Amino acid sequence: MNSPSPGPDEESRARELVDLITQHNRLYYQEDQPNISDAEYDELFRELQDLECRFPSLVFPGSPTQNVGAAPAEGFRSVTHRSPMLSLENAMNDGEMRAFDERIRRALDIDTETDLAYWAEPKWDGASLEIVYLDGKLQVAATRGDGKTGEDVSFNARYISTIPPQLKGGQDVPREISIRGEVVLPIAAFDELNARREEQGLPLLANPRNAAAGALRQLRNIDQARLQALEFQAYGLAEGLPAHAHTQQDIMRSIESWGFQTNPLARVCPDLESALTFHQMLQDQRTDLRVECDGTVFKVNGLDLQKELGEVSRAPRWAIAQKFPPQQQTTRLEAIEIQVGRTGALTPVAKLAPVRVGGVTVSNASLHNQDEIERKDIRVGDTVIVQRAGDVIPQIVAVLPDKRPRGTKRYKLPESCPTCHSKTVRLADEVVTRCPNIDCPDQLKNNLRHLASRKALDIDGLGEKLIDQLVDADAVKCCSDLFSLELATLLGLERMGEKSAENLLSSLEKSKHTTLTRFLIALGIRHVGETVADLLAHHLGDLPALDSKNSDSKNSEIEQLFDQEQIEAVEGIGPIIAESIVSFFSDERNREEITRLRQLGLHWPAVEKTPGKPETAASGKTFVLTGTLTTLTRDEAKERILAAGGSVTGSVSKKTDYVVAGEKAGSKLRKAEELEVAVLDEDGLLELLSH
Ligand code: IVH
Repeated sequence: MNSPSPGPDEESRARELVDLITQHNRLYYQEDQPNISDAEYDELFRELQDLECRFPSLVFPGSPTQNVGAAPAEGFRSVTHRSPMLSLENAMNDGEMRAFDERIRRALDIDTETDLAYWAEPKWDGASLEIVYLDGKLQVAATRGDGKTGEDVSFNARYISTIPPQLKGGQDVPREISIRGEVVLPIAAFDELNARREEQGLPLLANPRNAAAGALRQLRNIDQARLQALEFQAYGLAEGLPAHAHTQQDIMRSIESWGFQTNPLARVCPDLESALTFHQMLQDQRTDLRVECDGTVFKVNGLDLQKELGEVSRAPRWAIAQKFPPQQQTTRLEAIEIQVGRTGALTPVAKLAPVRVGGVTVSNASLHNQDEIERKDIRVGDTVIVQRAGDVIPQIVAVLPDKRPRGTKRYKLPESCPTCHSKTVRLADEVVTRCPNIDCPDQLKNNLRHLASRKALDIDGLGEKLIDQLVDADAVKCCSDLFSLELATLLGLERMGEKSAENLLSSLEKSKHTTLTRFLIALGIRHVGETVADLLAHHLGDLPALDSKNSDSKNSEIEQLFDQEQIEAVEGIGPIIAESIVSFFSDERNREEITRLRQLGLHWPAVEKTPGKPETAASGKTFVLTGTLTTLTRDEAKERILAAGGSVTGSVSKKTDYVVAGEKAGSKLRKAEELEVAVLDEDGLLELLSH
């Protein structure tokens, strides 16, 4: 049967894909500066493969599907590989791995009852290198290049300590061997190099892979520190097969005996199921590995079987790389929306064209604040790289300037609040821009949500939608209005039945009988969560009447009670929290609101006062939190540290006193180890806070 002929659309798309992929190959392999994510590259590549498969007449010899990498860059002597350095086919999921196994069985005529063993090893993300030895001595080290011809980087390779200049094993080493493997830069070394570059004002290296490839391909080895940080891990042999080797595992044993480092996690998987399990295990450990890893390479273990399977133009038929789901993706930033928080903070949120990242669909990512937007120069219309690691919220890593459409503008947070149109303010020492209007409907909605929440007044039936309705209908203009709501007003709201309205009124009534701690939480004072509210409640015992129409002597009593030094003297309350409490109670409008709430019936029993105690072990100390804690949330941990007089910052530096590392702690933990900053686990933190 004849293959169908491609239409003009298919033909022009194929041509476009060839151009695009060729251009990305050049950026990736020659300039070490890719401008799309690996996942996006894989997608383009698959699309082209697909077209060429449907319309074989579209395949031409220059197509990237028929070649690997890019031709050697100018400035290097070129080296012709004795046998081509191939690429690997990819499997994107278990289904594609199963299909691979089936294909091989069919080709080898092995039934499903017979085991087919695979040699499995992590696919390190680095640069491939071929090293040729003659009579045990290093002759030449060459990059992959376009697979046939690579670049001679022998001079640089000599700085890499894991590349032996002379092989071990004496007489037993074949006369000529050609070892292949990956040159990698371990993540800790990458972070350290970048920290140094930052100090020196040099541009930062994009990722460990590009940093490794860039180091290996320096024309004049100016960055020796980077070269010395590289490691070579061997994964194969192209020349010099020892006579006794029958499996991939045998080859790897010989390579090790000659003095090379091989992948410590590599192993034989006796069948497909154990291969899939190995891949899953590796994926679970992914963030803990010391070298960046983007999947598992599986090779048919038997060398006779490998030989029988042979190769297609760019990849062996006997090997495959099963990839991890991408943790980074590119997508378009369609708009920036502003959310107004409880304290009036304006948070810019990126609205993204929905994209699957690390197994979930992402369509929003916080842009944090103006400084962050400026630092990354994020603009509406940009194509951005979105990252989601583990359970971490999605973030925008960078924009791709090459893909920026014409006519975009730098983004500035609005000068007026998008909800109430008050002029926004940004204090000199703050990164946050705020809406100063405490009656702003957005602020009010968030305050009401907080007030109704479980740890505050715990108002049953007062959910997000109802709060929006109440505020939008002007039925509630401040928190205290909640407690003077009438049945008729509630019944006037859309979709509000009599039963629900009555239930709400009764839960509002019930919530009026509360505790001082809950009431203090409900006020929504910055930095005052459960722990601090409780400390404050035990310090105050009760709240005095805060009515400003009181006599002068009463007012001065209140001022004394909420004096900065007095509050700071409370065990567990540091200066930052104290300041926030003092400023809250010194605001006339807050005091009036408290008075109204009490007039409307909010009450609590008095609390037994506890005397204050001096300093804690955490006071004055700087903490960085990383990873997932099990008994505390991040916010709770932060609050307790602040309560103990410490401070919490986002990045590890020499000034950090403690790094608190939870599960799956990543680069911050490595940085702490590097800078020799004390690391606490969760128990350690709790222990410290209890002193
Ligand atoms: S074998 C025989 N094994 O992945 C097929 N490659 O996509 C040739 N890579 O160019 C490669 N770890 O740079 C093989 N354990 C491993 C690998 C590995 C990383 C890289 C290598 C290769 C690319 C193919």
